[in-house]
Amino acid sequence: RLRSILRGCGSYLPPRVLTNKDLEAMVATSDEWIVQRTGIRERHIAAEGETTSVLGIRAAEAALADAGLEAGDIDLVVCATSTPDYTFPSTATQIQHGLGIHGGAAFDLQAVCTGFVYGLATADKFLVSGSHKRALVVGAETFSRILDWTDRGTCVLFGDGAGAVVLEAAEGRGTSADRGVLTTQLRSDGRYRDKLYVDGGPGSTGTTGHLRMEGREVFKFAVGKVMDVVTEAFAEAGVTVDDLSWFVPHQANRRIIEASADKLGIPREKLVITVDRHGNTSAASIPLALDAARRDGRIKEGDLVMLEAIGGGFTWGSALLRW
Ligand code: ACO
Repeated sequence: RLRSILRGCGSYLPPRVLTNKDLEAMVATSDEWIVQRTGIRERHIAAEGETTSVLGIRAAEAALADAGLEAGDIDLVVCATSTPDYTFPSTATQIQHGLGIHGGAAFDLQAVCTGFVYGLATADKFLVSGSHKRALVVGAETFSRILDWTDRGTCVLFGDGAGAVVLEAAEGRGTSADRGVLTTQLRSDGRYRDKLYVDGGPGSTGTTGHLRMEGREVFKFAVGKVMDVVTEAFAEAGVTVDDLSWFVPHQANRRIIEASADKLGIPREKLVITVDRHGNTSAASIPLALDAARRDGRIKEGDLVMLEAIGGGFTWGSALLRW
């Protein structure tokens, strides 16, 4: 039986940092309000010309270097993004080209903040089917370009960045002790469209539009839905919360992360939190957090890691990995 083994990860953040103090000069807000409600202190913002594919290429290069692989070893590129460079061609093909890969398949996938979990689940299914051998799964976003910078309720929450992992199909023994992607759980429900959306697009206004959100509603929904997909993942893999080494959730808000972890009985010291430095980078937030925890030595080989996310749609999901 084939398994998708994690070969490496990497990330990239644009150099420009926007602090809460900087935001105080732009909208009626305060560092104190933002930190208390969200845990965010600063975020990175892409410069002109630093498009989503540019960030994605940098993250992918770092992931390939970490895996000790060449671009030509990759036969599948999946890019999760809601902020593509163009309506088409896909950001994935731009990343593929930027890396110098001219074979295999590349496509984008859009599940907003759940995009990376959807991308990982999709690439995993390609690899375990035997159709592809090595996949780059990239989460890359420039949400700064779809924010209404006059709306204090949303513009303080998001940032730009990219992260990537390399998956490789390998023979597994078929038990939960094996390495790799153990289980993925994906869900969506389009009834919640109006809670979190972008008010534009080629089929509606013909403009790019801006992000709109009912923050309280999203908050309420987030914690409950996270519980379901995480509990289902544990049951399917035949492990318990006590076996978990690290919980790497989508980084939207420290309060959502801590409330979810508390409900699941995951101790605070097992949480990987980067939202304080990155803000919410949507599909990029999980691979950015994974890479931070790999690089500082927290996530080690053999560790059991739970990823989970919820985003616009709503979409939500989880992925349980053994690194
Ligand atoms: N600075 C100062 N005051 C603000 C700001 C700001 N940046 N934003 C809103 N306020 C004000 C509001 O105007 C309101 O004022 P009023 O009482 O005079 O009307 C007051 O603060 C409270 O506003 P709420 O929106 O009710 O504040 P809440 O406590 O719900 O916090 C927040 C808002 C942080 C957005 C919260 O609802 C939240 O975390 N929601 C989760 C949504 C989220 O994280 N989404 C990310 C994208 S979704 C995802 O990734 C899954």
